[in-house]
Amino acid sequence: MNRRQLLLLGLGAVSGASTLGLGQWLHHRATRAQQARDRTFPVTGTQPLWQRAAAKGITFGASATRREILEDPDLAQRFVEDCRMLVPANELKWKTIRPSATEYQFEVPDAMLAFAQQHGLIMHGHTLVWHNSLPDWFAETVNASNAEQILVDHVQTVATHYAGQIRSWDVVNEAILPEHDQPNGLRKTPWLEFLGEDYLDLAFRVAHGADPQALLLYNDFNLDFAVRQDERKRRAVLGLLERLTAKGVPIHALGIQGHLSGAQVPHFDAEVMRRFLRDVASLGLKIFITELDVIDKAFPADLSIRDRMVAAAYEDYLSVVLEEPAVVSVATWGFSDRYTWLNSFHPREDELPVRPLPLDENLQPKLAWNAIARAFDQAPPRDPNRGETQQE
Ligand code: G3I
Repeated sequence: MNRRQLLLLGLGAVSGASTLGLGQWLHHRATRAQQARDRTFPVTGTQPLWQRAAAKGITFGASATRREILEDPDLAQRFVEDCRMLVPANELKWKTIRPSATEYQFEVPDAMLAFAQQHGLIMHGHTLVWHNSLPDWFAETVNASNAEQILVDHVQTVATHYAGQIRSWDVVNEAILPEHDQPNGLRKTPWLEFLGEDYLDLAFRVAHGADPQALLLYNDFNLDFAVRQDERKRRAVLGLLERLTAKGVPIHALGIQGHLSGAQVPHFDAEVMRRFLRDVASLGLKIFITELDVIDKAFPADLSIRDRMVAAAYEDYLSVVLEEPAVVSVATWGFSDRYTWLNSFHPREDELPVRPLPLDENLQPKLAWNAIARAFDQAPPRDPNRGETQQE
């Protein structure tokens, strides 16, 4: 039995008992810490991450903010060394580019696009339609009678502005939330309230009309673990993708965000993930891992253990996900611990800085970097005819 099979067996064994009692779960957590202690994540060669991914037909990149890319030259340099895709973390959101219902401000994302083009990076756009990060004027301006025109105008204007320059878009972000008890598991958002589920069809059709070459994604989170919340979400997302593809809506890929909660890692079930990815791919869709990081607040403070558990989470997840040939792109959410949303959104109780990303705060590669490199090195090559730049 080779290492990968042993790994998957171990993973399967751990996650097979995904209805663990607390005592068992704590035991498993201690075991996983011990297991992680024993793993060293050796890497062969000195190739950067983008090259290891590209060797298998996979695009690798990361999100970054304007500050990281345009105001931190040391980070920007390391970013370009390891990445071939740039995802503006906040700079293409409504709050940033829409100062009013009649105005668009593209200076900041344009500057990030110029940086990407100068360094041979492709850009992934995040995100055309979301319920979050909306400008202050939105709530007092948008209503049932003008919502369609405002949505169409935004998608049309932004996708046209970047046509031929942004390779792929998160067209609609996080539209599914079964806990809201809406039909088809839709999340209660102003878009759903004013336009019904068809707002998704509309967003994709307008984006495709504005930029027929762009790859168009539906993007969401909590799709990763064998827990009830994620299972309900996987089912609802699959239902959405089935309806959109059945209607001939121009959608080309599913974006799986991949914000991996360390506390939930014992509930990762390789076979559950494989089946979900296979079901999505069977619709003719590609799959992007769009916002990968590991939330380490449940892991021990001791860095010699914590960094290994974070690395193990990356490798164990990616080694399963990259078995699916439809997975053609991987992006981490941020690239260095120097800047991560997790310090403010998921801080550790011991108030130690979090360490979720491939580079530490001093831009040095961590075991997480090794783990991602190993996952690309071990991944089967994609079919070159299914390149993620071609729409089928
Ligand atoms: O730039 C302003 C600053 O001027 C102001 O002083 C400060 C105080 O409020 O806010 C700053 O803006 C913040 C922005 O991040 C930039 O740091 C916003 O408040 C804050 O809400 C925003 O959070 C972002 C969040 O999405 C909401 O848009 C995070 O950085 C970003 O990492 C996070 O990313 C999301 C993806 O878009 C979707 N998937 C989940 C992922 C994590 O939540």
